[in-house]
Amino acid sequence: MNNWFEWRDAPPGDFAVLGDPIHHSRSPRIHAAAYAAYGLPLTYHAIRVPTGELEAALAHLESLRYRGVNVTLPLKEEAFAWAETEPRDAVYGALNTLDIRTRFGTNTDVPAFLSTLRGFEIEPGALIHVLGAGGSAKALVVGLAQSGFRLRLWNRTQSKADDLAQRTAELIPGARIEVVAEVSPTYCAALINTTSASLSAESLPIPWPSAAQNLLAYDIAYTDGLTRFQQDAASHGLRHADGRAMLVEQAALAFTWWTGKEAPRTDMLAAVYEHPHPHT
Ligand code: ATR
Repeated sequence: MNNWFEWRDAPPGDFAVLGDPIHHSRSPRIHAAAYAAYGLPLTYHAIRVPTGELEAALAHLESLRYRGVNVTLPLKEEAFAWAETEPRDAVYGALNTLDIRTRFGTNTDVPAFLSTLRGFEIEPGALIHVLGAGGSAKALVVGLAQSGFRLRLWNRTQSKADDLAQRTAELIPGARIEVVAEVSPTYCAALINTTSASLSAESLPIPWPSAAQNLLAYDIAYTDGLTRFQQDAASHGLRHADGRAMLVEQAALAFTWWTGKEAPRTDMLAAVYEHPHPHT
């Protein structure tokens, strides 16, 4: 059985995650775990919506009585254009959580990411090295700067890191950002991998420090086991994390935003780790 739908074929429902591709999404089972914990009779579907079709898809889903959606790649900028944004989220330029009826949106990715960093006792003022300057890096870099972290950016194509640094400095007065031509984790509390290199299992050109530096190697992507970036960090004795904790936390914040209820995080976390094979 298909565990996802094309938007024109979507069944009636309450909530959904929209993106393209969407078959791999673990959001339906994370939210289903939250509904089960409260005994809520709600449904959450994964629905494919290609670039450029978000507005039409949302109108269709509203007619099917959907209340809210998460959006993932490649729709987060389109969602930002569609919705009225919670004022504190306006600087991110990207939204992942929408209320279809009120046409309001919020970004729970950035606070989720910052909260997972705090979970590793990495606090504002620390130096964070971000690898990559693509779509996934943008909102995180702005959020880090806004929260008072110092930033070091590296991207394979350096001009994109320069552009991101400049855009962030314009949005966040006083932001402390440097762009480096080569990855350089010295003095850093965390090395954040936002590149898509993990997905193709490629190693990045990283001069890994010794375990004494207590660097956190944090890949915002995830796979069933360790990503290549995590494997490389682990082989140098470094602590590491992947995108699953952030995925659950952004879902928890979205659940609360929609329902007003505290998120049952333990159940939601169990749902993402218990089923290692997203395609079955
Ligand atoms: P996303 O929305 O997932 O961030 P993207 O906007 O296409 O996707 O950005 C992909 C990022 O991964 C870019 O920073 C890209 O570097 P370039 O700007 O030089 O293309 C980076 N990336 C992808 N594959 C990479 C690799 N093998 N090594 C280093 N960086 C890589």
